[in-house]
Amino acid sequence: MNFLNLSFTFSVSIIILTLFQNNIFLHVESLSITPSQNQYTFFDINTLASTPLKSGNNKNKSCTSRPTFSVCKVWGRACSEEVLGLARRPENVDWLKSVRRRIHQHPELAFEEYETSKLVRAELDRMEIGYKYPLAKTGIRASIGTGGPPFVAIRADMDALPIQEAVEWEYKSKVAGKMHACGHDAHVTMLLGAAKILKSREHLLQGTVILIFQPAEEAGNGAKQMIGDGALEDVEAIFAVHVSHEHPTGIIGSRPGPLLAGCGFFRAVISVNKGNPYRSVDPILAASAAVISLQGIVSRESNPLDSQVVSVTSFNGGTNLDMIPDTVIIGGTFRAFSNISFYQLLRRIEEVIVEQASVFRCSATVDFFKNESKIYPPTVNDQDMYKHVKKVATDLLGPSNYRVVPPMMGAEDFSFYSEVIPAAFFYIGIRNESLGSIHTGHSPYFMIDEDVLPIGAAVHATIAERYLNERGSYAVAFTTNAGDMLGQDFPVEL
Ligand SMILES: *[C@@H]1O[C@H](CO)[C@@H](O)[C@H](O)[C@H]1NC(C)=O
Ligand SMILES: *[C@@H]1O[C@H](CO)[C@@H](O)[C@H](O)[C@H]1NC(C)=O
Ligand SMILES: *[C@@H]1O[C@H](CO)[C@@H](O)[C@H](O)[C@H]1NC(C)=O
Ligand SMILES: *[C@@H]1O[C@H](CO)[C@@H](O)[C@H](O)[C@H]1NC(C)=O
Ligand SMILES: [Zn+2]
Ligand SMILES: [Zn+2]
Repeated sequence: MNFLNLSFTFSVSIIILTLFQNNIFLHVESLSITPSQNQYTFFDINTLASTPLKSGNNKNKSCTSRPTFSVCKVWGRACSEEVLGLARRPENVDWLKSVRRRIHQHPELAFEEYETSKLVRAELDRMEIGYKYPLAKTGIRASIGTGGPPFVAIRADMDALPIQEAVEWEYKSKVAGKMHACGHDAHVTMLLGAAKILKSREHLLQGTVILIFQPAEEAGNGAKQMIGDGALEDVEAIFAVHVSHEHPTGIIGSRPGPLLAGCGFFRAVISVNKGNPYRSVDPILAASAAVISLQGIVSRESNPLDSQVVSVTSFNGGTNLDMIPDTVIIGGTFRAFSNISFYQLLRRIEEVIVEQASVFRCSATVDFFKNESKIYPPTVNDQDMYKHVKKVATDLLGPSNYRVVPPMMGAEDFSFYSEVIPAAFFYIGIRNESLGSIHTGHSPYFMIDEDVLPIGAAVHATIAERYLNERGSYAVAFTTNAGDMLGQDFPVEL
């Protein structure tokens, strides 16, 4: 995720600053398209401090000596304690840390997550969890439960960033110029932790939990390709977490409706109409008029309380000082928080450029890079899935460990899933002043408090298990959409 430290705000200056930061980030990202340098296998499976639960014995023991284990169809405190207890067993915490540190030391960029994927599969094999592989090159779709419907998914992203780690610690990245600076190593680990918990409770599951390990979140099309390869087949709801340096370790935060911005790019080619008899046709003038008119979309057409951005960031045409060029190319970016506003911006950008070009007897085509998946829709939390996350988090960790968070200008490719099925995205805090885990994602100083790992595993597992138990109460989720921004049809219930 493009994890900015600036919260959503209506102040124009802050939005411009955010945009500026995004551009820096995007620039850095464009350096990432280099061939993989690590040909070696770095995960020595035999040295993984893995201590899988002795599932056979454990199952029987749990069922017989802890009768509360089996009555979790109505979730009670004992169920929460069971799950948290399991996650926090010292051998499980050691295993979680060991997995996370190995992934952290060997970061792999988008669509190059071969060794990370291998580690995940080795752990799944050990737990005797079945999976489909590969999806989207390195992705995995694992399943736990009855094998039949209903199906609920939990997702982790696996890719790292082209950033040189600046944190000096024992398990620092061993790959120059690459780093898990967004915490996806923790996401993978927490999902594996959830897998272990869910496997030990498989006999209690009222359906099937799908674990999605996806590549290339930072590059933007991992989620889309996973969906194309069948990751969401039969799945009726999906959840995912992102670590956040804004909240103390273990705090869960989310909000209903729009949580992260939609982000898109455009590139318009403005040309002189072929065969035009008038010699004064001028694409520079047409493009200039288009640039001016684009400013009116946000300032004159949008709801001032519904933050949006349209910026032209490039303007190119002509090389000669004594000739009007045939073509001018302009380009830029746009952001919005609601799906309606986002696609409205996209439509209006195209209309304004094409129509302004025609005023000056030019023609224009606008490319939004849909094929390159450079469009991230806004991440919009379904009302019921949001409520589910909130309920699970408050029951598991206590109400004081749950926060309603403001929307943020960052973008996240989880939005591709949330476009298809009811979904909820939430944060888990990793902030610990005494450890120094206070830096924003994509900072070379980014680090996490590893105490988050068992908590995240327990939250993931409980979200999935309880979803299967309680989905009857969410029937409404399948007939209504997630609603939209700021009072427009959106029933705000935090
Ligand atoms: C233990 O579990 C196994 C498989 O889950 C089952 O076949 C067996 O009957 C159980 N034993 C007891 C004592 O419950
Ligand atoms: C985008 O992809 C579609 C289908 O794969 C193709 O038909 C279309 O020509 C592509 N557009 C561009 C601009 O590459
Ligand atoms: C967002 O809008 C687009 C275009 O109108 C549509 O295809 C998509 O399904 C919408 N997504 C949601 C979650 O409403
Ligand atoms: C921060 O980390 C230290 C060392 O692990 C731990 O003792 C402390 O409780 C943590 N503080 C918070 C607020 O989680
Ligand atoms: Zn990121
Ligand atoms: Zn991220």
